[in-house]
Amino acid sequence: MSAQIIDGKQISAEIRNELKEDTLKLKRERCITPGLAVILVGDDPASKSYVTAKERACQEIGIYSDDNRLPENTTQAELLALIRQKNNDPRIHGILVQLPLPKHIDSEAVIAAISPEKDVDGFSPISLGKLMLGQPTFLSCTPHGIIQLLLRSGVKTDGAHVVVVGRSNIVGKPVANLLFQKAAGGNATVTICHTRTKDLPSFTRQADILIAAAGVPHTITAGMVKPGAVVIDVGVNRVEDPTAAKGYRLKGDVDFDDIKEVASMITPVPGGVGPMTITMLLYNTVLSAKNALK
Ligand code: GUN
Repeated sequence: MSAQIIDGKQISAEIRNELKEDTLKLKRERCITPGLAVILVGDDPASKSYVTAKERACQEIGIYSDDNRLPENTTQAELLALIRQKNNDPRIHGILVQLPLPKHIDSEAVIAAISPEKDVDGFSPISLGKLMLGQPTFLSCTPHGIIQLLLRSGVKTDGAHVVVVGRSNIVGKPVANLLFQKAAGGNATVTICHTRTKDLPSFTRQADILIAAAGVPHTITAGMVKPGAVVIDVGVNRVEDPTAAKGYRLKGDVDFDDIKEVASMITPVPGGVGPMTITMLLYNTVLSAKNALK
C-alpha cells in the first residue's frame, strides 16, 4: 500500500493563515507591525531565490520586510555595522542573514552579532543553547518545521525511535534535541547517524520515524526503511535535468518512489519540509513582535 503523503504546503498554509490572523490582531489592537530584516551578501542564485521567497512570504501575511542586498565585496565590518543598526531599529523584530556568506566573512561572528531577541533563524549559540536546555527561545526553523509536520499529521513521537541521518548545526543537531525534549512533539528515543556511521542501514531499519538530513540524493533506499515507518526528507538537492524549465530538478535525500511503497507516511520534495522552513521563520518573527510588547 502506498504511503500517506505529508503535505508541507497544506500544513504551511494552515500555519500561515494563523499567523495572518495574529499579525492583523497585532496591528489592530497593539499598533505594531512585525518586521523582518533580510540580509543577502553576494549573487548566489539559490540564496537569491530563497531570500525572494522569504520576502514574498512576509508580504503575504502582512509582515514588514526590510530588504538588504549587499555586493559580494562587502566587508565584515560593513556587515556587522548593518546588523548593529538593525539590532537598534524598533521596526525590526527579526534579522535574517542568508547563509552561506562569502568566504572572506566569518559567519560565526556575524550570527553572534545578531541580538538574541531578534535571532529569528535560531542559529546563534544563545538560541541553540536554550533550545538544548528546553528553555523558551526562537527554535531553528527547519527543525521546528519538522516537529510541526509530525504534530499536525498526528504522528506520535512519544516513545518512538527516531533516527536522524545528518549532524549539521542547522538541522541534525537541533532536531535531535527537540525530539528528545520532555514536550509535545518530543519524548522520543533518538539516534543520530552521520558520514562516519558504520552500517547505516542497520540503524535506519530500526527507525519508527526516519529523518534524512544528509544533503545527498539516494542516501536512503527502500531496503533501509522499516515497513510502516514515517519518513521525513529534509534534502533539497539540485539535480541537473535538461528537460526541466530551469535545467535542474529538486531531489530529496530519499528514494521517494520506492520508499512510498514501504513507509506509512512520507514527505515529498519539493512540497514537504521546504515550505515549513519559511513558515517557521514567519512564526518566529511574529513571536518576536509579541515579545517586544512584554
Ligand atoms: N541557508 C540555507 N538555509 C538557510 C536558513 O534557513 N537560514 C539562513 N539564514 N540561511 C540559510
